[in-house]
Amino acid sequence: MDKGVKHFLIMAGSTNHMLMGDKLLKDNGIKTSLVPAPAEYGSVCAIAIKVEDKDIDISEKYLRENDISIRGIYEEKPERLTGLIDRLKNSIIRDEFLDVLKKIEDGQDLTHSDIVLLLKTDRKGEMEALFKAADEMRKKIIGDVVDIRGAIEFSNHCKKDCKYCGVRRNLDGLQRYRMTEDEIMEVVHSLHNIGIKTVILQSGEDAWWTSDRIANLITRIKKETGMKITLSLGERPREDYEYFKKLGANNYLLKIETTNEEIFNFIHPDDDINDRKECSQWLKELGYLNGSGCIIGLPGQREEDIANDILYFKDMGINMIGIGPFIPAKGTPLENYPTGDVDMTLKAVAVTRLVCKRVFLPATTALASIDSDLQSDALKAGANTIMLINTPAKYRYNYQIYSDKNMVDLKSAYDAVTGANREFPSYLKIDMEVYKDAGNTEK
Ligand code: 5AD
Repeated sequence: MDKGVKHFLIMAGSTNHMLMGDKLLKDNGIKTSLVPAPAEYGSVCAIAIKVEDKDIDISEKYLRENDISIRGIYEEKPERLTGLIDRLKNSIIRDEFLDVLKKIEDGQDLTHSDIVLLLKTDRKGEMEALFKAADEMRKKIIGDVVDIRGAIEFSNHCKKDCKYCGVRRNLDGLQRYRMTEDEIMEVVHSLHNIGIKTVILQSGEDAWWTSDRIANLITRIKKETGMKITLSLGERPREDYEYFKKLGANNYLLKIETTNEEIFNFIHPDDDINDRKECSQWLKELGYLNGSGCIIGLPGQREEDIANDILYFKDMGINMIGIGPFIPAKGTPLENYPTGDVDMTLKAVAVTRLVCKRVFLPATTALASIDSDLQSDALKAGANTIMLINTPAKYRYNYQIYSDKNMVDLKSAYDAVTGANREFPSYLKIDMEVYKDAGNTEK
């Protein structure tokens, strides 16, 4: 979306109306994007339709003519954190750091060098101030509910040889698996039964899963459960993305991993950064809620690169941004490289919330794998969603994209959400309190 243009947020009466409305507007040539809903409506529906000022009247007309219920229309104001500096008056913060916080307080855009300054701090008082600012921004624009989604890693076959990845093509000794459609559906139903609204289907780049096979799966999920579907299947031809969207896929995760071309090329022997960006562009044009993200602690990566990643997410209008630390995976060319820095990851999450504002930010599984408390820390630094891992136990061990990948299950989600003093979504049909005294999370 263009900078400097006024935007409006349209809240429809239900998620279905929101998705139908977004499609209707796009089909009529109106530039829209789906963004997290304003906090006051967060529990009714997680998303809102964002349109430009010049299109708001015609958009409203189209929606009303087509019986899409509208709950409200709001002008999107620059989000300020009024009084932030005052609330930080007991912290020890350098003047130059305070200057950037002041910009955040006033709702001004941050420059590349502002972002670098935030990322480079290793002072306790400043980091806490940064996390607090991000937490306030998250609360203000999304509220306290943590969105919970379920992921199924349905195939670990992959034609690519990404150097960091534990399911890369050339990983000797890895037992490859492919879940059957029925096995996948069994998990989908178990998620649906507990009220989860979104299922994430993730796999390696597996040619066996042709577009028609994926299409059948999408159709079955929609027909049998009506759940929202996030796909994470890597790079595919535009026609595939279009086909899946037509059948009802809602979201797509395709991380850029790093916008530094040299590092991108080093870790991705089969990929071209421009192709990856083009795929993201297609996904955006096709109306997906568009996911990207990056790995923190890649070889040679500097704060300046991470700042570029964050600005790329903002400029591309990315809606979901997964940021996790690099974790060396056994048997990969990067197995002896050091683990990504946890503080840097949390700082990147916080800055992303402050810069990209109205986006979904997961507390990533990679963070949980380093320490089970870190998901809670991410939720306190701007994150607002958790992805459960629902891959059946007999396959899970072979989907270690990084070593010692931790289980993110309902128990660990309970710990993370309550640890951060946050709320479970009302759509969950289980009493989360049963996890209060449950045993340790399975590793
Ligand atoms: N360390 C951290 N993150 C990784 N991913 C894959 N391998 C690793 C690793 N070794 C992340 C990538 C990918 C997502 C599915 O998992 O960001 O997009």
